[in-house]
Amino acid sequence: MRIDILTLFPDMFDGPLKTSILGRAQESGLLDIHVHDIRGWTTDKHNKVDDRPFGGGPGMVLMCQPLHDAVLAVEASDTRRAHRMLLSPQGRRLSQDIVESLAQQERLLLIAGHYEGIDERVIDALEPDEVSIGDYVLSGGELPALVLVDAIARLLPGALGHEGSAAEDSFSIKDDDGTPLLDTPHYTRPRNWEDRQVPDVLLSGDHGAIAKWRLEQQRQRTQDRRPDLLDDPTND
Ligand code: ADE
Repeated sequence: MRIDILTLFPDMFDGPLKTSILGRAQESGLLDIHVHDIRGWTTDKHNKVDDRPFGGGPGMVLMCQPLHDAVLAVEASDTRRAHRMLLSPQGRRLSQDIVESLAQQERLLLIAGHYEGIDERVIDALEPDEVSIGDYVLSGGELPALVLVDAIARLLPGALGHEGSAAEDSFSIKDDDGTPLLDTPHYTRPRNWEDRQVPDVLLSGDHGAIAKWRLEQQRQRTQDRRPDLLDDPTND
């Protein structure tokens, strides 16, 4: 899968993209990520990419021209059609279901907005799939873009190194009726740590009993911590 990221702060991606699963997915060729500086497409002699908002108000607004030219140029650098996305608090809220469907795409183009916003006309012209990572406001779309890339990368076959484990994560686990469930608790050595014991069933070697206990834990945790997931009519 190819992912192009358009940003005014390319340095923000250096560390996270090199590290852990994202680093390995790129080394192994599963993921081909290109980060582009929108400023590279400014035609303004002072390299200006933003300006004050018409009508007044705080902050600066990203101008149409550099972003529009950047998107078209980056898209043309590969024959695969890119699914255009804009990270913004005004988008549809990201969920594991959305991540799973995005992981099927062969190419994504992510626009990380910054400052107070982006000139609405370029959003109208580009018609990106607008996505928010939650109901809180960050100072830009860079961290949300990294969140999205990470969530997608771990679903690519082979990225985790141990097949099956992504399917056992919170939200990917489904009850018999399709309800998403939170993950079960996990334990490792030692068996006794500061007078806290690992549950006996996990030491029993009885795989049927372990699977049953884990499912009960998942249901109980979901009931206790996220009852909203249990009666959400969109989970079918
Ligand atoms: N940019 C700023 N806040 C954001 C959010 N919550 N999700 C996506 N992009 C953002």
